[in-house]
Amino acid sequence: MSVPQHVAIIMDGNGRWAERRGQVRTVGHRRGVEAVREAVKAAGELGVQYLTLFAFSSENWRRPPQEVSDLMGLLKFFVRRDLAELHQENIRVRVIGDRDSLKPDILSLLTEAEELTKANTALQLIIAFNYGGRDDIVRAARKLAARAASGDLDADGISEADISDSLDTAGIPDPDLLIRTSGEQRISNFLLWQAAYAEFVFLPCLWPDFGRGAFEEALHIYQCRDRRFGKTTSQDLALGT
Ligand code: FPP
Repeated sequence: MSVPQHVAIIMDGNGRWAERRGQVRTVGHRRGVEAVREAVKAAGELGVQYLTLFAFSSENWRRPPQEVSDLMGLLKFFVRRDLAELHQENIRVRVIGDRDSLKPDILSLLTEAEELTKANTALQLIIAFNYGGRDDIVRAARKLAARAASGDLDADGISEADISDSLDTAGIPDPDLLIRTSGEQRISNFLLWQAAYAEFVFLPCLWPDFGRGAFEEALHIYQCRDRRFGKTTSQDLALGT
């Protein structure tokens, strides 16, 4: 059975995990970081080549300032604690999202992680930070408009490939499987363009409880799906695909 080349995850349910235990939400986010470690390990072991994690959305700035600052702190904690190990495991770290409004300390840590691991060839770990799917498309549109205005590009000839190549995910294959934990069934402005043909799997478990077992369950559900990319099953049979 085929393993999806690219898995993207909306890590949802940290707050509920903590609240159910009578704890503050940050405790859930902290446990969420441990689940990130588990997910990265499992992805590598299961043969996934690209793993994209939705760590902080453009909309998450609307949360209470303390929670925003805790989430920023946890990303810094993760990079500082785990970067050497990720590098040792030959994992390449990439970051997608709008970097312009990030504080210099976060920006330099993320850049350091990308620089250190840029030649690594095992799993690619893509961290979506200050990311929004619509914002990604808007920034791509601006890049293309600037190229058209400078005469570098014919506006009438703009193709899907030109748009893909202008998104933060340029060069990264589209996700095959998009997982969301916590039972919610929404895309929440994640990878809107890129997820056009992704299979969606919604798991009931809260993100801090996600581990190898939940990852395997999602892959199993994916493997039972019939991916047709707009074709019919009979066409697939006739084409032998
Ligand atoms: C959603 O749970 C989770 C987030 C908004 C943040 C996810 C962040 C982490 C797991 C930690 C940092 C990330 C990395 C890559 C180290 P929620 O708070 O919306 O939960 P709720 O829906 O139960 O309230």
